[in-house]
Amino acid sequence: MKNTSTYALFALSLTMAIGQATAQNTSLSEGDITRKVDSLLGLMTLAEKVGQMNQYNGFWDVTGPVPAEGDAAGKYEHLRTGKVGSMLNVQGTAEVRKVQKIAVEESRLGIPLIIGFDVIHGYKTISPIPLAEAASWDMEAIRKSAGVAAAEAAASGINWTFAPMVDISRDPRWGRIMEGAGEDPYLGSKIAFARVKGFQGDDLAATHTVAACAKHFAAYGFSEAGRDYNTVDVGTSTLYNVIFPPFKATLDAGIKTFMNAFNELNGVPATGNAFLQRDILKGQWGFNGFVVSDWGSVNEMIAHGFAADGKQAAMLAANAGSDMDMESYHYVNHLESLVKEGKVEASLIDDAVRRILRVKYELGLMDDPYRYCDPEREKTVIGSTEHQELVLDMARKSIVLLKNEGDLLPLAKSGLDIALIGPLAADKDSPLGSWRLAADAGTAVSVLEGLQGYEGNAITHAAGPGLVLGEPSFIMETKINTTDRSGFEAAVAAAKNKDVVIMVLGEHGFQSGEGRSRTSLGLPGLQQELLEAVYAVNKKVVLVLMNGRPLTINWADEHIPAIVEAWHLGSQSGNAIAQVLYGDYNPSGKLPMTFPKDVGQIPLYYNHKNTGRPTQPAPDLVFWTHYIDQSNDPLYEFGYGLSYAKFRYSDLELSSAAVGAGGTVTVSCLLSNNGAYEGTEVVQLYIRDLVASRTRPVKELKGFQSIRLKPGESRRVSFTIAPSDLEFYSANNVWEAEPGEFEVFLGGSSSTELKGAFVYGK
Ligand code: NOJ
Repeated sequence: MKNTSTYALFALSLTMAIGQATAQNTSLSEGDITRKVDSLLGLMTLAEKVGQMNQYNGFWDVTGPVPAEGDAAGKYEHLRTGKVGSMLNVQGTAEVRKVQKIAVEESRLGIPLIIGFDVIHGYKTISPIPLAEAASWDMEAIRKSAGVAAAEAAASGINWTFAPMVDISRDPRWGRIMEGAGEDPYLGSKIAFARVKGFQGDDLAATHTVAACAKHFAAYGFSEAGRDYNTVDVGTSTLYNVIFPPFKATLDAGIKTFMNAFNELNGVPATGNAFLQRDILKGQWGFNGFVVSDWGSVNEMIAHGFAADGKQAAMLAANAGSDMDMESYHYVNHLESLVKEGKVEASLIDDAVRRILRVKYELGLMDDPYRYCDPEREKTVIGSTEHQELVLDMARKSIVLLKNEGDLLPLAKSGLDIALIGPLAADKDSPLGSWRLAADAGTAVSVLEGLQGYEGNAITHAAGPGLVLGEPSFIMETKINTTDRSGFEAAVAAAKNKDVVIMVLGEHGFQSGEGRSRTSLGLPGLQQELLEAVYAVNKKVVLVLMNGRPLTINWADEHIPAIVEAWHLGSQSGNAIAQVLYGDYNPSGKLPMTFPKDVGQIPLYYNHKNTGRPTQPAPDLVFWTHYIDQSNDPLYEFGYGLSYAKFRYSDLELSSAAVGAGGTVTVSCLLSNNGAYEGTEVVQLYIRDLVASRTRPVKELKGFQSIRLKPGESRRVSFTIAPSDLEFYSANNVWEAEPGEFEVFLGGSSSTELKGAFVYGK
């Protein structure tokens, strides 16, 4: 045992131990790191190696069921004996320093911990939920937003975020839809790349960056019936063409870690899945970072019926390529004996430990374990004005204008008598969403406060009946209020004779997120009734939606003249919404996910297959793919979103009608702003591969550009289609572009019909 009590002595002994000169530089070369990792590995006992593969929670159990062993496992003691390589849910420089000090100064080799945390969309300063950010289609803003989260987390002692979640999902019933980029692999890949760059920056050892973690590998977003943690069964085409691409994009961005998943995939739990982790990720994709399990997912292989006990679970997970065990205790309890019994190769342990140590070196932790523990930096960085401004900008860009009949919006800034109604109108907590572990409750700017920032109009606020019963919390189930009608009549009375009524309705912040799947997607509780009652006395209603997932709002779409999708927008929510309502910001968001008309249509997504009996324009045949009680169409399609500007598309042109293999085609169209406001339009490019060795979707997003036009301005917008845009995972089990005819579409949403066609490779 090393019994030194000062870091200076530790540093000296570790430096001597690994046979290197003291290294003060933080950006070590690949070669340097490999040499240092190898020498350190040579000094480690098997138990110490296994220790690096063990991750413990920071003693407050908020992100999963408390493991049976609980604190009885003696976590502090395990830090001393080198049995812990990482901790999660420790936050703040003082707390991090405390655990780091034990690992560094009291364990034999003094290897620092890597501290992980769910920094999903902000640390203390909260950005919009990731699904909302995806609606911006603005990669630079998304990168910066992740940069804010990283800077605040790093200033608080954290080295590693469990984000981005890059799971594609087609199911709004799934509560975690809010945590990803929606349904599309192309948009999802661009966003995955931007978020990794935002978290990790250019220098992982810099004190404002953290290591990122792509999760959940793989297919977690395809849980059956949208029920969280449920079984997943998907075919090869969906796996390769839809689920894998955003994960692959995180590798291209240089991601350092992956997290596996709770779900099984075609009969094999992701945590024990060698095909996913060894063959694809570490094999074909050449990933050299490490894979952490999800919370207790090694243990959950027992409930899956894949492992008989903890020991077998540890064996299966380690052999399959899970390098670190989050909170199952099975690695620390069983891996040593499994190696001794020859059930897990010692070389696999070495491989896992090398991967983990490498990231610790890259983070600069081996150089200075306390580099992220500066209380002065913590005070100045967290919550800075610059961060507030960046998340405000992200929030404005995330808003989607769904309807604006008669140009009800934007509102005049003076002379109006406005009623502000709804349980979320003054809510300072819901906009923070459910993934805001470090944020202070009730710190978002409410819509009421945002509107009060404009002084020219009179505002009467009436909450109406509450949305949930009792105090919702991260752990507690939110109980939807369907009984307590207090405030109902007062809200309706307040709406009478007003110039405009703004209603803020939707989901409470804890109604979406992990473990929060829903079977109905209407406005929860008494809100639909309230909306109809208010509309009965005043037709001039602006509905502001706050929600973590697509909702089925057919009635509102039919009756309410203006609808603004404002998601859960984070700390600056109310300011962003007010700026949009008053026209100081012209909305340009586009939906990253289809809004269905009915839950029965789910999964409903734009890039579906044509089928052998495709959708018909007139529903006069029984034997084609349809419902007898609902259309096949969504309420709002993927890519949809309005502006105060009025955009028109015309004159699609192609550079050629045929191009040889390896050639490119340019497609363009004229975009005009025929409205009275300057605005930004996200112009979208879709293709369709008409005949292929595996059937292809009716449309696939392949490009987008944000174009800003003044009133009356027109501009030709062009895209170059490269062979890589035509590729898919073909019947040859490779990514390739097959020769044949392609349709190409340009427009402001996935339902655009402005199209051309060209032949490729013939
Ligand atoms: C479980 C979640 O699935 C995962 O995304 C998260 O990072 C861990 N809990 C840790 O909190």
